[in-house]
Amino acid sequence: MANKHMISETERITLLATAARIADMSGAAKSFYIETYGCQMNNHDSERIAGILESCGLVMTADKNSASVILFNTCCVREHAELKVFGNVGALRARKEEHPKLIIGICGCMMQQEAVAKQLYRKYPFVDFIFGTHDMHRLPLILEEVLQGKRVFAVSGDDADIAEGLPIHRLGSASTNVNIMYGCDNFCSYCIVPYVRGRERSRSHERILAEIKHLVKSGYTEVTLLGQNVNSYRSPDGAVNFPELLSMVNDIDGLQRIRFMTSHPKDLSDELIASMAQLSKVCRHIHLPVQSGSTEILAAMNRRYSREDYLELVHKLRAAMPDIEITTDIIVGFPGESERDFEATLSLVREVCYASAYTFMYSKRSGTTAAQMPNQIPDDEKKRRLYALNACVAETLEGANEKYIGTTLNVLVEGCNAARGNTVAYGKHFAYKTVLFPGDRDLIGKYVDVLIEGVTSNSLLGRRVE
Ligand code: SAH
Ligand code: SF4
Ligand code: F3S
Repeated sequence: MANKHMISETERITLLATAARIADMSGAAKSFYIETYGCQMNNHDSERIAGILESCGLVMTADKNSASVILFNTCCVREHAELKVFGNVGALRARKEEHPKLIIGICGCMMQQEAVAKQLYRKYPFVDFIFGTHDMHRLPLILEEVLQGKRVFAVSGDDADIAEGLPIHRLGSASTNVNIMYGCDNFCSYCIVPYVRGRERSRSHERILAEIKHLVKSGYTEVTLLGQNVNSYRSPDGAVNFPELLSMVNDIDGLQRIRFMTSHPKDLSDELIASMAQLSKVCRHIHLPVQSGSTEILAAMNRRYSREDYLELVHKLRAAMPDIEITTDIIVGFPGESERDFEATLSLVREVCYASAYTFMYSKRSGTTAAQMPNQIPDDEKKRRLYALNACVAETLEGANEKYIGTTLNVLVEGCNAARGNTVAYGKHFAYKTVLFPGDRDLIGKYVDVLIEGVTSNSLLGRRVE
């Protein structure tokens, strides 16, 4: 029976057959480069796009200058992200004139806003193809048309299906992401995501579990379950909620750590807190975006919790898991945000003492309700508030980091950088912090004990102990 939560098997076979045809085409494009903007959702989509292009016979390259296909996977959550894309695509005009065979494509959230996508398509006639967030599985067909010399604009509004079973090229070797749901139904008044990612839809728990088991077989020991609001996960048959899914994932042999993001505070249940505390593989970290410390602004943002509700959640989380690290997102300069509202955000930051906070100036997004609100805050004032907020976060971080000095943390090594003749390995411990220590590539994917001897604002520094 056709399952409305996946592309059909026939479609998948057609796509793979198209990919094979492209792979056989003589003189076809040979290498591709993907530039990814935005969140983990987009990074993960880029891994899938890379998998599809590889099944078309192309090879991934990290060198933009030598690539025969350049693809921009875009974000539109703030205006700044969009301007960067316009600038970076525009910069390719001369190269395309010199190398007419170069293929340039644009996809991702920004392309899902019809007016913006059409503007880009018109403004940059050297762009060969554009596709939206719901059209990724059509990529081989699109590429085939491009190789026949056509320009393709493929942005559909159809968010009903989840394209399952697509090839994927995962970039991390120790830890990796698994989508458990797509889209968002929350319509926070400032946010464009529900408009460009479509309605919230969860994957079946069987498929999620099968994917993770497969990942464990291929050597991964840590997964991050991804969704705009994982707390409202509900399997399509209605049988499994997020705490239950966590428990099933926790039972997978060989898996050692589970992370997830993002959690909307309004859906963080007592059941979930209890599961987190009880399940041994669930990391002691929660990303719990607060957005503002003022109840009035939270109401205008349509967040559906108050400052007090949020602080109560933080209290419950810490009572259940004293060593939990909490991180957050905060917006300053939302329309109508008074000095008093802003002060409320600063005092909340001091009270919660975050392990990290992503801070943003409010950016007006056309089509969202906040864009129509009166009392938009001038840019200078937004900037002033952002600097003040960042200084406040930095102050609280010092104490939050120093508590680790002298402790030994078990770190999953994710990568290694060479700097001035030394190699520095990095990874995360069971909570959230990134730990840096002298170590080489052989350690990637391993769990090692590191004695913490120093801190920077974002990381802990240490040395390996046996
Ligand atoms: N689903 C996630 C994150 C979505 S986007 C969540 O609900 O938390 C990531 C962050 O971008 C948001 O948490 C918010 O802080 C920020 N953001 C979204 N829209 C914005 C806008 N118009 N201006 C500034 N920041 C915005
Ligand atoms: Fe945007 Fe709110 Fe949905 Fe997050 S929960 S993606 S901030 S609308
Ligand atoms: Fe992510 Fe940006 Fe899209 S934040 S969901 S890539 S708009």
